[in-house]
Amino acid sequence: MTEQRVLVAYGSRNGGTAGIAEEIAATLGKDGLSAEARPAADVADLSAYDAVVLGGGLYAGRWHRDARRFARRLRTPLRQRPVWCFSSGPLDATATEKDIPPTRAVQRDTSRFEVRGHITFGGRLDPSPQGWLARSMAKRGMAHDWRDFDQVHAWAHTIAAELRR
Ligand SMILES: Cc1cc2nc3c(=O)[nH]c(=O)nc-3n(C[C@H](O)[C@H](O)[C@H](O)COP(=O)(O)O)c2cc1C
Repeated sequence: MTEQRVLVAYGSRNGGTAGIAEEIAATLGKDGLSAEARPAADVADLSAYDAVVLGGGLYAGRWHRDARRFARRLRTPLRQRPVWCFSSGPLDATATEKDIPPTRAVQRDTSRFEVRGHITFGGRLDPSPQGWLARSMAKRGMAHDWRDFDQVHAWAHTIAAELRR
């Protein structure tokens, strides 16, 4: 069988979600798939990919705009491929401690196609983030990395196992 090509597309303002997407792609690569992480805004068509992982950083309960637009623009080819989704947000340990379902807004964005699985990962607040609200949160001592890369790797392994079945 030819190698399956997987796109890991992401919407990220401050790089935290981009880092998760890179880790997912690297893990899929180690598991024998051909995977690449790309900013969702840079992807115009999906013809080069057999499967898609789409993720967005959460802002006020919604995915970053690039992930939302990707889900809308490419809904037709997304219906023809297996798709997994992730959100990255909580600035505490909750995403490691329990399963956090997709927000209502993310459910709406992803209702246009079938989603094989969704997971919420912890987020990261950069010490010098973009946006005044983010900067004021960082000044209040919230700048911290809550991403759990063991959890990211474990989730990526389950995707690889499904695709290689
Ligand atoms: C202004 C602002 C609003 C946020 N809103 C949410 C939210 O509604 N839910 C959540 O889980 N995390 C929220 N977060 C945390 C971000 O999702 C987290 O920092 C994430 O890692 C950002 O991803 P990015 O670095 O890829 O942009 C918010 C962060 C900021 C700065």
